[in-house]
Amino acid sequence: MSSCLLRFITALLLCAVSATAADTVDWWESATLYQTYPRSFMDSDGDGIGDLNGITSRLAFLKEIGVTATWISPIYDSPMADMGYDVSNYTKIYPVFGTMEDFDAMLAKAHELDLKLILDFVPNHSSDECEWFQKSILREDGYDDWYVWDDGKIDPETGERSPPSNWRATFGGSAWTWVEERQQYYLHQFLAKQPDFNFTNPAVRERMKDVMKFWLDRGVDGFRMDATNFLVEKRFENGTFPDEPEGGIDPNGNTKFPNQIYTVDLWEDTEIIYEWREFLDEYQRLNGGDTRVMIIEAYSNVTVLSGYISNGTNVGGQMPMNFNFVSLNENSTAETVETQVNAWMDVIWAKHKMANWVANNHDNSRLPTRMGESKVDAMTMIIHGLPGTSVTYYGEEIGMPDYAAACSGDPCNFRDPERTPMQWNGSKNAGFSTGNTTWLPVNPNYPFLNVQVQRGVARSSLQIFKGMTALKKTLAFKAFKEDGGFSYGALSKQVFQVVRTAIDREEYRVLANLGNQIEYFDGLVNKTMEYVLLNSYSPHRYGDKLDLNGRIYLMPYEAVVLRWTA
Ligand code: NOJ
Ligand code: MG
Repeated sequence: MSSCLLRFITALLLCAVSATAADTVDWWESATLYQTYPRSFMDSDGDGIGDLNGITSRLAFLKEIGVTATWISPIYDSPMADMGYDVSNYTKIYPVFGTMEDFDAMLAKAHELDLKLILDFVPNHSSDECEWFQKSILREDGYDDWYVWDDGKIDPETGERSPPSNWRATFGGSAWTWVEERQQYYLHQFLAKQPDFNFTNPAVRERMKDVMKFWLDRGVDGFRMDATNFLVEKRFENGTFPDEPEGGIDPNGNTKFPNQIYTVDLWEDTEIIYEWREFLDEYQRLNGGDTRVMIIEAYSNVTVLSGYISNGTNVGGQMPMNFNFVSLNENSTAETVETQVNAWMDVIWAKHKMANWVANNHDNSRLPTRMGESKVDAMTMIIHGLPGTSVTYYGEEIGMPDYAAACSGDPCNFRDPERTPMQWNGSKNAGFSTGNTTWLPVNPNYPFLNVQVQRGVARSSLQIFKGMTALKKTLAFKAFKEDGGFSYGALSKQVFQVVRTAIDREEYRVLANLGNQIEYFDGLVNKTMEYVLLNSYSPHRYGDKLDLNGRIYLMPYEAVVLRWTA
C-alpha cells in the first residue's frame, strides 16, 4: 500500500473516531452531578424539614441549571441520630420525608425531565433500632452473626471485662459498646447507635443486594455507597481483634486516633465493591437501560480508590469521589489547585481515564467559607472546566457559605453550618418552608443571596454555574478521551488555566486568578479568543475579543472563559 493511501485511510479513521468520541463517553463520565440534602432542600408541608415532595417541586430547577443527575442523601426510615446515615428500615421512606408514593412520583418526575436519580446507600452500619440488630441481640435464627459481636477481654487477675480491642469510633470514644441483654460487645465505627454489619457473613451480603434490587426495580439509576472503607475489619483466626498502634498524645493530653490499619481500607472492602458492580451490571444486562452507576464515598488515598475502580481482573465503582478539593482553604493558591488536580490525574486518570471533582458536601465546610467568597466563581469554572464529572452540593451553585449559628444536635455538631436550608428567594425562610421554624436556621444573608436574585443576572454565581454546565455539553468538553483533549496547570502562583479542545473545531480556555494581585502573561497562544463567560471581577464584556499572542491581564479574582472557533 502506498504511504499516501495509508495516510488517507488513517485520516479517515481519525475522522471517524473524532465524530463518535462524544458518544463513547458514558452518561456519568461527563455528567453534572448534584447532591440533594433532603432535610434542607425544599419543605412542601410547612413542618420546617425538607421532604420528597419538596424535592419533586424543585427538579425543574436542577434541569434549568444543567444538572444531569442528582444523588440524594439518605431518605430511609431512621431515628436520625446521624441524620439518616443510621437506617432503621432500608426499604421504607422516613415518614417526615414522605411516603413510597411520594418517592415514586419524585423518580417519575426526574425521569420525565431526563434527570438521573441516585440514592445514598448505607451498607457499613444500620441503626441500632433496625429490626435486624434487634434480632441479632436476641440471637434470633439467622441473625446471630449479622453484626460484629465479641465477649471482650477478661482480666485474669481482677476478672474485669474490657472491650475486645482499642479500636476507636470515628465520632469519638471506643468502637465497642456492651449489650447487657446479649452479654457481648458490638462494633460501631461511627456512633454507638450505628452498629457495623458483619460483612464476612454471606447472608448480610445477600440482603444488601436484595435492598439494592428493591430500589433498582423502582427505577433508580445507581447508588452512592457510604463509608466503603469501613466495611470489613481484621479478625485473627482465633477470633480475637488486634489492637491498632496508638497515635501518640495530642497537645491537649488526649490519646490521638490510632493508626487504623485493622479497621479502615482493608482489601476485603474492595472485593465487596467488585461484587456489587457485578450485581449492578447483571441487573442492567437483564433489565436494559443505561449504566447503573456506583459512586463511592471513601476518604482514602488514590491507590485505594484506583483499586475500587478496577484491579485488572475485576471492575468496581465507576466513581470513587475525589475529595482533593475539599481540603482547599484560604491559603490555597493556583499551585495548590494544580497539586490537588495532579494527585488525582497522575494515578486515577493515568490508569482509568476517569475523573470527578467534589468541592463541597454535607460533611465539610462550604467552599466560600473555606477559600473566601471572592474565589467561588473562579472555582466553579475550574471544577467544571476539568475533564470528567462535576459534583455540586446544593447551594454551591449560588455560592452559599456556612452559617455557624446552626445547631441541630448533629453528633459532630460541626457539620450543621454547611447544612442550612437552601436559599430560593427573598420571602419567608428563603422560600424553603412556609413554617414558623426550620430544622436549622436559614442564613440571614438570604435576602441578597438566593436563586431568585441571581437568576438571569449575567455575572451571578448561578449564571456562571449555568454557563459552565452548558459548556460541559459541548464537544470540546465531552470528547476528551480519543480526540481533542485538555490541559491544565498553574500559569503563575495564583492563576490557574484549563484548556479544552475539539481539534480544528473549537477551543475553550478558563483563566482564573485566585489571588488579590493583577497578573499578566505574554504570548500564551497564537489565537484571538472571545470572552464567553465573565465573573464580576472582570473589567471585560461578553463578546470582547482578546489576542492571546500579546500581553493579557487578569484583575484580582478575575475569572473568565474564552472561546476560539475555527
Ligand atoms: C459518611 C456520611 O457522608 C456522613 O454524613 C456520615 O456521618 C458517615 N458516613 C457515617 O455514615
Ligand atoms: Mg416537610
